[in-house]
Order: sequence, then structure tokens, then C-alpha cells
Amino acid sequence: MERLPGFRDFYPEPLPNPDVWSADARNYIFEKWRAVARRYGFREYDGPPLEPLELYTVKSGAEIVAQLYNFVDKGDRAVALRPEMTPTLARMVAAHERNYKKPIKWFALPQLFRYERQQRGRLREHFQFNADIFGEADPSADAELIALLIDTLRAFGLTANDFVIRLSSRNAWKDLYQRGTRNSERVIDPQHEYDFYQIIDKLEREEATQSEVKLAALGFSITEVKEFISAGQPTAELEFVLKNLSARGLAEFVKVDYNVIRGLAYYTGVVFEAFDKLGELRAIAGGGRYDNLVKLLSGGKVDLPGLGFGMGDVVLLELLKERKLLPQFAAKLDAFCLIEDESLRGESLRLIQQLRDAGCMADYFLTSIKPDKQFKRALELGAAYTIKLEIDAGGKLKARLKNLQTREEKLVPPYEVLTHLRIRVFKESSASYEIEDLSYLLFSEDGDSLHLQEGEPPVLRIDGVDHKIEGPRITHQNAREMLRSIASDEQFKEFEKLGMVSFLYRFKSSGQVEIKASAVNGSLSLNLRKLNH
Ligand code: HAM
Repeated sequence: MERLPGFRDFYPEPLPNPDVWSADARNYIFEKWRAVARRYGFREYDGPPLEPLELYTVKSGAEIVAQLYNFVDKGDRAVALRPEMTPTLARMVAAHERNYKKPIKWFALPQLFRYERQQRGRLREHFQFNADIFGEADPSADAELIALLIDTLRAFGLTANDFVIRLSSRNAWKDLYQRGTRNSERVIDPQHEYDFYQIIDKLEREEATQSEVKLAALGFSITEVKEFISAGQPTAELEFVLKNLSARGLAEFVKVDYNVIRGLAYYTGVVFEAFDKLGELRAIAGGGRYDNLVKLLSGGKVDLPGLGFGMGDVVLLELLKERKLLPQFAAKLDAFCLIEDESLRGESLRLIQQLRDAGCMADYFLTSIKPDKQFKRALELGAAYTIKLEIDAGGKLKARLKNLQTREEKLVPPYEVLTHLRIRVFKESSASYEIEDLSYLLFSEDGDSLHLQEGEPPVLRIDGVDHKIEGPRITHQNAREMLRSIASDEQFKEFEKLGMVSFLYRFKSSGQVEIKASAVNGSLSLNLRKLNH
């Protein structure tokens, strides 16, 4: 059975054919969206995918209503799949705004449904990053939101050469509309005003003669409209936004462009759209201020200014593919356990369980299968190591670790497997950070003993800020003595027995010592500070 047109199947990579969509790329986009929104102090919310039809007929505008997936449910309710998030959000905010401090800054990643004509960049279902602010009428909120939009696109590696935010204002257009109607016999009718905005919205996509006729019917000439657009005189609020963005060093990403007006009916102030610089694709994102929507949807009970934007995953993905900005999404595992001796399956399961408990990605074959097939699967799954349990000559259980990149092999006691896997994780990260979890410690190249950086006291960088590390430093020479001085006799005995790695791990988890570490270019500095014993 085929899927519906305009809907997508998301598969894990490598993709079986170019017609299906990548679940990995989708996750990548979602992770970035979430990370940048959180960086700006936005909190995540969600709402129902099915809503009363009325929620959209009130104020979304004719275009979106024509695209609704709506039906009557079994309880005779007129319902619609959400085509956009803003009405749901306005309803949610109106219901509980008193419980939240203003300004409210929320984001969501909803899947939306629109019965659109399928075309490049437009499907019948898409995911949309929504970020909105409520309770702030000052244009500093508009600037903050636009900065978030810019930084979201930058987080994917896109630059000012790749995209531009076209800034406009409904207020500017409202002025023009009112000036045009003042001297005519036409009364200022909100429906006419919205019709006027709709014509402007289609100006770039429609035949000039068609727009001309429609404008003339409302008493406007296309010349005055075009002149207004090309003059591009920023309103006071746009001046403010430009200045604010300029102070952040983001001026190069925006330009005033009155061709943008936004199709949705509820916008009231600054509006904007993000486009690829070459102008080849549909809008990447769009949004603006909608100061009356909460009042309207709450039946006048709550009056809160609002503003926000939506960024779809479809055009964004197209642009990232075009600019070759998507990472490789190969399968990845920390370890694949080879079970060649069925009598060791129980022990192997125990080890796999321990590795998974510790947060490692570990896998194995569920049933007995030829060793070469198991090994092949380990390679296919992108395992960093294979682990095979075996009994050594002395009758002891050992783990044979094979690094699939270097092909190096090592025979270690099973309890050391975790340490070896962690070493890889740490080596791969070039970051310098506070180590909360000691299992991320780095040990010497051969993985057996602690490798410490000598010389200057290490600098610990947390979120880009350098901190001087206090407390005694461990060096090669004094590591043992230092542990001796802060550990109890019993603990020290344990250290001698277990070795540095396992010991520190236990010591730290007992909450008796604070351990900070920094890694720069693969070397590690450790600092211990004794807490209450
Ligand atoms: P919108 O301009 O209708 O705004 O959609 C925002 C973005 O969603 C578009 O720029 C586009 O990237 C993506 N998008 C829209 N429709 C489709 C489609 N059929 N297929 C693929 N992508 C699509 C809104 O929805 C507003 N509610 C945004 C907003 C939030 N305004 C204030 N807060």
C-alpha cells in the first residue's frame, strides 16, 4: 500500500532510495532547533494535533482555511488537523498565562498538516519550529525573536551568504492603506484591508496585470504600491529592530523589504520572512507580531501582545543539502558483543547489560550465528569495538576488545571494558569541561595508567568561560600520594586493588571528593578537592 501524496516516510540512514526521507537528518534538525531555543531561554510546550475547526476559521485567513484537513468526528464535532501552531498556542497562553512570568518565551516542534498543492518545498505535512513571545509590546522582543531566527539558521552552518531575513511591517502597510482610503468614499472595512494585504502578499508570485486589476478594485494603483515598496522607508519600530540587531553584530542578515506582508490574517506589526540568498527556494521561515490574537481567541478575557515565527523542516533541509551542510549519518555503536561460545551467552548478556546501564550503545546478535556474520554486523553497525568474552589459560574470564578502526586487540578483565570504551569517548571530544561523570576520564594512550598534563595549571572552560581550577593538582608523581592523603585507609586499599580508574569512579560517586578535569588536545589534568569525609 502506498503512502498518501505529500506525506513522508522517515527511514534510518543509509537510505534505501532517494525518495524517502532521513530520520537521522530530521533528528539532527530537531536537536539544533531545541538547542538554540534553549540558549535563548525558551521553554518547550506542545498541544493537540487535532483542534476544533473554529480555531482556524476565526483569524488564520482564507488561504490556510482552504488548505485545512477537516472533518466531522464521531461525536459530530467539526475538527481539523492543525495547519499551524499559533492559534493553539494563543489558546493555551490565554488559558494559563497567570501561572507564567512575562514575557512568556515558548517553543514547539509540531507536525502540521495543510492540503496544499504539492510542489518543491511544500508538502501536505511538515514539521515546524515555532518560537513565540507573549506579554511584551516593546520592539526589543521583535529583535530578540529575529536574532533567534538568525542564530537558528547559523547553528546549521548557514551564513549571510546563504540566507537573508526580509523585514517588513503591517503598520507601514496599514498606513498606506489608510492614506489610500481616506479620501475615497470607501469606508475602512477590515475585510477590504485584509484583501489588500492578500494582493500585496501575492505581488511577487502573480501576473502584474492581475494584481493591477485587483488593486484598482480597492482604489489603489500598482504604481503607488510599487513606489512604496521601492522607497522601503523603515518605520520607527523597524529602525529600532535594525539598531538592536546591529548592536549584536547581526545587521548583515536583515534587510527592510516591503514585498513581505505575510499571508496570515492575525499579524499586526513587524513581520518577516527568511529566504535563501539566491531566491531559488520558498520561504524558510516566517513570522511577526500578532497583538490581538490572544484577546480574540479568549473572547476578550485575556489581552496579551504576542509575536513569533515558524520555520519548516522541508525548505531548510533542501538548503542544507544544497550547501552540503548535513553531516554524515552513519550507524554508530560503542560496542558489539560477539558471542562465539554459547556457554558464555549468560556472561555476555551480563556485560552488555552493564554497558547499557552505563550509557554505552551496545548490541549483539539475539541468536547463535556464525562468527564471521557477527563480525560483519559489527562493522555494518559502525561499532567502535567488538568485545568477545573468553576463558584464558588460567581459567579466568577475560574480555577480548578489538578496536575496529586500528584493529588493535587487548585482553582485559571484564570490569575494565567500560573504562576502555569511555577512553574512546573522551579522546574523540576535543572539548575542555568539568567532568561530572568520572567514567569520561582520559587515561594514557595504552589505556592502562593515568596520563596527566604537566606544567601550567589547567584551565577549565565551561560554556566558553575560563575558570581557574582550585585545589591540589594531580601529577604523575603525586597522584598516589594525593589519593593517599584524601582517602581513608580502606578506600586506599581499594584503590591499590582496583586501579585508578575504577577507584576514582567509586570515590566520586560516594560524594566524598570533588574532581575536576580538563582535557586539551587529548591530555588531561585532574584536580581533586576533598569534601567532608
Ligand atoms: P507560515 O509562513 O505559514 O507561518 O509557515 C512558516 C514556515 O513553515 C514557512 O516559511 C515554511 O518554511 C514552512 N511551511 C509552511 N507550509 C509548508 C508546507 N506546506 N510544506 C512545507 N513547509 C511549509 C505560520 O505557520 C505561522 N503560524 C508562523 C508563526 C508562528 N507566526 C507567529 N508565530
